[in-house]
Amino acid sequence: MSSLLVDNIGELVTNVPGHGEGGPLGLRRRAAVLVEAGEVVWIGPARDAPAADRRIDVGGAAVLPGFVDSHAHLVFAGDRAAEFAARMSGQPYTGGGIRTTVAATRAAADDELRGTARRLRGEALRQGTTTIEVKSGYGLTVTDEARSLRIAAEVTDETTFLGAHVVPAEYADRPDDYVGLVCGPMLAAAAPYARWVDVFCERGAFDADHTRAILTCGQAVGLGVRVHANQLGPGPGVRLGVELGAASVDHCTHLTDADVDALASTRVDPGDGDGPHTTTVATLLPGAEFSTRSPYPDARRLLDAGVTVALATDCNPGSSYTSSMPFCVALAVREMRMTPAEAVWAATAGGARALRRDDVGVLRPGARADLVVLDAPSHLHLAYRPGVPLIRQVLHNGVPQ
Ligand code: NIG
Ligand code: FE
Repeated sequence: MSSLLVDNIGELVTNVPGHGEGGPLGLRRRAAVLVEAGEVVWIGPARDAPAADRRIDVGGAAVLPGFVDSHAHLVFAGDRAAEFAARMSGQPYTGGGIRTTVAATRAAADDELRGTARRLRGEALRQGTTTIEVKSGYGLTVTDEARSLRIAAEVTDETTFLGAHVVPAEYADRPDDYVGLVCGPMLAAAAPYARWVDVFCERGAFDADHTRAILTCGQAVGLGVRVHANQLGPGPGVRLGVELGAASVDHCTHLTDADVDALASTRVDPGDGDGPHTTTVATLLPGAEFSTRSPYPDARRLLDAGVTVALATDCNPGSSYTSSMPFCVALAVREMRMTPAEAVWAATAGGARALRRDDVGVLRPGARADLVVLDAPSHLHLAYRPGVPLIRQVLHNGVPQ
């Protein structure tokens, strides 16, 4: 079996608390990582590194786990640059443009959707994203949701059924019937390709009763729960997510104290050495606030309450057309009162928590060998040098990309 040594690492982010210098990033200096069969098999001081079949000398650079982008919408057709331009001239974002993308997606051939999803997956990988969640939600018919998820499953294992993204125009005056369709034939067609179920719980999309009904149906067929919650205003989404045991509630831009308390109440310490965390993660999507010119969520408030925070791109053609996790890290540090260490953790280990994964977002023996080599001496540069292409090399499943 061929082995690969990533050697001469100046700063290694392991995300194993207590490792090396301690702290949540588990930083180690002058380290090396040995990879075999797609897994990390050894981590230690570079001077003690074992022999290997191949060796990559990173020359003192920083290395971190591949980013885990736990929220993206990559299966769509069309372009909404004009809507973005209108927002930058003062128009508010309402989510109404989702229907524009639905029309374009329904009209597109499979290969066009596949091409876009693969292009964006590749774009994300080149920026260090080695795990990505991909939602449906721009089909909104039984066949279009099923094909969106089939295509999503070609680019990732982390697929999410978002048939409840908006009520499509043809059901505008009978939303209850649409919820019936989502919970019935649409879920049946989508579930074989999906790991998760999600609902856009927001005024103008789905209310608390509809959201509960859809998430419960999804749970009944074995899907895990995630919610688009409290993006455009306060609402019931976050508390509903907690009530239903969601892995993650996403956006969290407008939170009341009761929402923060509900999230904090899910805090557990399983004694596995990874420290306490909340079973429902708050996933913040600063690309959406950037691109809709909205106030950013306050990550500090969540962190101070003990809530586990993840960062993700929300990559989609309307509210956040970026696939860049480094951009989200920089925004989170500058605009959301996160420290660079907290933001890097949230973009790696936090994303893994939001997907209930313990094999990614972390570097330790047994973890998947997903590594990012920076063109920089430390993780701080991800926020310190915003907009700069700092991703020098990506290893995915132990394979240099
Ligand atoms: O997460 N908020 C709902 N869904 C997407 C936006 C989709 C769109 O505008 O096309 C989001 O921001
Ligand atoms: Fe989204």
